[in-house]
Amino acid sequence: MASQGRMVCGLDIGTTKVCAIIGEIGPTGTIDVIGVGTDACTGLRKGVVMNIQKTLESIRKAVEEAELMSGYDVRDVFVGIAGAHIQAKNSRGVIAVNRKGGIIAQDDVDRVIEAAQAVPLQPGRRMLHVVPQTFVVDDQAEILDPVGMNGVRLEGEVHIVTGDVSKVQSLLQAVEGAGLRVADIVLEPLASSMAVLDEDEKEMGVAMVDIGGGTTDVAIFSGSCIRHTSSIPIGGDLVTTDVSYGLKVPKGRAEEIKKKHGSAMQALVPRDSCFVVPGVGANDQRELTRLELAAIIEPRMVEIYRSVAAELRQLGLYQSLGAGLVLTGGGSLLPGAAELAHSVIGLPVRLGTPRGFGGLIDSASTPKHATGVGLVLCGQANSGPGTSGGTVQGPNGDRIKDLLGRMTEWVSRYF
Ligand SMILES: Nc1ncnc2c1ncn2[C@@H]1O[C@H](COP(=O)(O)OP(=O)(O)OP(=O)(O)O)[C@@H](O)[C@H]1O
Ligand SMILES: [Mg+2]
Repeated sequence: MASQGRMVCGLDIGTTKVCAIIGEIGPTGTIDVIGVGTDACTGLRKGVVMNIQKTLESIRKAVEEAELMSGYDVRDVFVGIAGAHIQAKNSRGVIAVNRKGGIIAQDDVDRVIEAAQAVPLQPGRRMLHVVPQTFVVDDQAEILDPVGMNGVRLEGEVHIVTGDVSKVQSLLQAVEGAGLRVADIVLEPLASSMAVLDEDEKEMGVAMVDIGGGTTDVAIFSGSCIRHTSSIPIGGDLVTTDVSYGLKVPKGRAEEIKKKHGSAMQALVPRDSCFVVPGVGANDQRELTRLELAAIIEPRMVEIYRSVAAELRQLGLYQSLGAGLVLTGGGSLLPGAAELAHSVIGLPVRLGTPRGFGGLIDSASTPKHATGVGLVLCGQANSGPGTSGGTVQGPNGDRIKDLLGRMTEWVSRYF
């Protein structure tokens, strides 16, 4: 074991792979990635753990690889959470500021955030994050930090993320089963945002779109605060399935072909570029153009982008995205992914590669690792008490409650 500086491990349990990233925090808060481990995982469907045993084996392998590379032993991990069971909504609360002189204090902010959280939850659901958005002091709106202002009425808006307790438990069981402790769980789109967005973009308005294997996660910021998070249940795996059906090859072969020859946008593919599809069963080997392959891929990518555009339209947020879209996740690696997004959604688009760290830049600077790197950055941000607390459920979920209580506190400071 290496001499222990402060180390943080991010654990991205994705639909296609588990990825463990170990970061070493320097005395001035800089982060060096010193270990990266990945293992293909088949224990999840659309971001949700379905097979705990398979998932925990992948977690073990990914963490071991990262440990070997870094020389650290990992115990506590920051874990990402996503999937269709996650729901997010905005809520508001109002309080009277009855303080002498009417100067708003942190205590008033805490009270209004508490008031805004008072929303009924369906049975079996728990709050994962409560992220303050903006405040209104008397009639002055869009205030990020009202402490020190003068007023008699304080209104606060928060973004509330909830999850299904049984699905959170499965995730925690897989992590604990691999011999690790959950320091915290973080909504994956928030973690990815931390790795790929910069503050100027969040101020101008930006949508982070993480195209994973099972889901496409969206996080929208404007005026430097989070406005919306969601998960669309379509990702790169469906693109692979389309290629598999279209070319009549098994999924594994389709995945290779997609990565090697695929393109998201037919208009960008050279007309005469060909590749060979190996024969399978009674089908002989044949030659195909990359244009034919792109014709299979493009409709599914268009479907993903149209779903994103529909959300933006429905939320009325189109006009507030001055910095456009930032695409990340493995699905964004398809050539033409950004160009197609621009043509479907009609906003400027850039590719988001994780940044904000040194060390193993070559291994970690890929959109596939946006969530993993983001989790390390979240771990660094969460340097307060409770970063190495216990986890997993008691019969009534009390320990989950503890964990989730801690999460809401620190996340509120960073998003
Ligand atoms: N070079 C590449 N070209 C095209 N697609 C790629 C490439 N590399 C990875 N992908 C695709 O990216 C997807 C996996 O992305 P990622 O690793 O971000 O997903 P995940 O985190 O496992 O899943 P999720 O976030 O949905 O739970 C797969 O569909 C894969 O085919
Ligand atoms: Mg992912």
